[in-house]
Amino acid sequence: MISKQTLLNVVADYEALSSLAAAEVIRQVKQKPNACFCLAAGDTPKGMMRYLVEAQRRNEADFSQSHFVLLDEWVGLDKQDEGSCQHFLYTNLFEPLQIAESQIHGFDAKADDVEEECRQINTTIKELGGIDLTVLGIGVNGHIGFNEPGVDFTKEAHVVHLEETTTSVGAKYFADQQQAPEQGLTLGVSQIMEADKAVIIASGANKRPAVYALLYEQVSSQCPASILRTHHHFQLLCTEDSYPNYEAM
Ligand code: F6R
Repeated sequence: MISKQTLLNVVADYEALSSLAAAEVIRQVKQKPNACFCLAAGDTPKGMMRYLVEAQRRNEADFSQSHFVLLDEWVGLDKQDEGSCQHFLYTNLFEPLQIAESQIHGFDAKADDVEEECRQINTTIKELGGIDLTVLGIGVNGHIGFNEPGVDFTKEAHVVHLEETTTSVGAKYFADQQQAPEQGLTLGVSQIMEADKAVIIASGANKRPAVYALLYEQVSSQCPASILRTHHHFQLLCTEDSYPNYEAM
């Protein structure tokens, strides 16, 4: 069952989802201009980012003092590589919002020592005072960031061998590849759980089984997103097509 902490908001369509998710981010930056955000890349948050860019253009939001911590990246890729998480974030958010490099905190997934990159981002997050708001997507296998089924919930940033589902679904981000890279870097579930506020956004019928597991199955690492049900300030925003009708399933 849904825990009493979980706020569920089912909206008609992707535009409504995007606008609602953007409103959460805007509320946070108004409340704390130097807030630290951790935002997923991918198809789901793209519309939200469009709303954020429009809001800053209309002077309804100001991200000039905010910080952004990267959530995850494919090992071997960086912001120059189309299809990478960073390329997505720079193109859809950081560049249009004119976010300075000093406001962006990530890892170099092209580094020789990616484990060291993980240790560094762990330290950086602590130095920033933690994450104020994270807006996550959910994988068809229930992953958050690149925390795949079976993940140890106590982990901080780490290197992951990605599931076949993730690499084959991830091919959609790459124009010329059948499969995405097999390894990823991700913030750990413990860091996501320590965020002051957490939001998951979901859209599309292909996400329905994962949303079902998130909401109604036992909290378990088999659906990493389900742990968010125990977060003190968690919201699930989803479109009608991604929302499982409990009685029908
Ligand atoms: C990407 C990320 C992933 C995605 C998830 C859903 O930075 O963290 O967990 O959020 O795979 O991706 P989309 O939104 O493309 O369906």
